[in-house]
Amino acid sequence: GAPVEVNIAKAEPGQMIRVKWRGKPVWVVRRSPEMLDGLKSHEDRLRDPNSEEPQQPSYASNEYRAIKKEFFVAVGICTHLGCSPSYLPQEMGEHVEGVEAGFFCPCHGSSYDIAGRVFQGVPAPLNLVVPPHYYVDDNTILVG
Ligand code: FES
Repeated sequence: GAPVEVNIAKAEPGQMIRVKWRGKPVWVVRRSPEMLDGLKSHEDRLRDPNSEEPQQPSYASNEYRAIKKEFFVAVGICTHLGCSPSYLPQEMGEHVEGVEAGFFCPCHGSSYDIAGRVFQGVPAPLNLVVPPHYYVDDNTILVG
């Protein structure tokens, strides 16, 4: 499949842009400062906080799982059985108490933080997949 260009110039903090790449949903979330600060609060509750699993681009192996920490790029497919998680931009509420924002998969209850890092004790085995991508310029991400 062809690479997909995503224009991020008008993305507001907290906004998610959805595109399709190779038939899969790809998300680009512009993370607010609060979302980024919140990433430190719950690392002891994650399965793989530093994202050390090998099946991903090297730039996803850090706590932000991103090239530029403000923008999180992920394949929007649960690593359990492939449902599409919901985006929870405010807080995870009853799904994960005390966590600022993240993603929740309604199929079997897997939860991920706003860096796509999976919480312990849910069916999903791995963090959300970060697709290969790069910045063409400050306003444009090319996925693929
Ligand atoms: Fe997401 Fe099972 S497919 S929890």
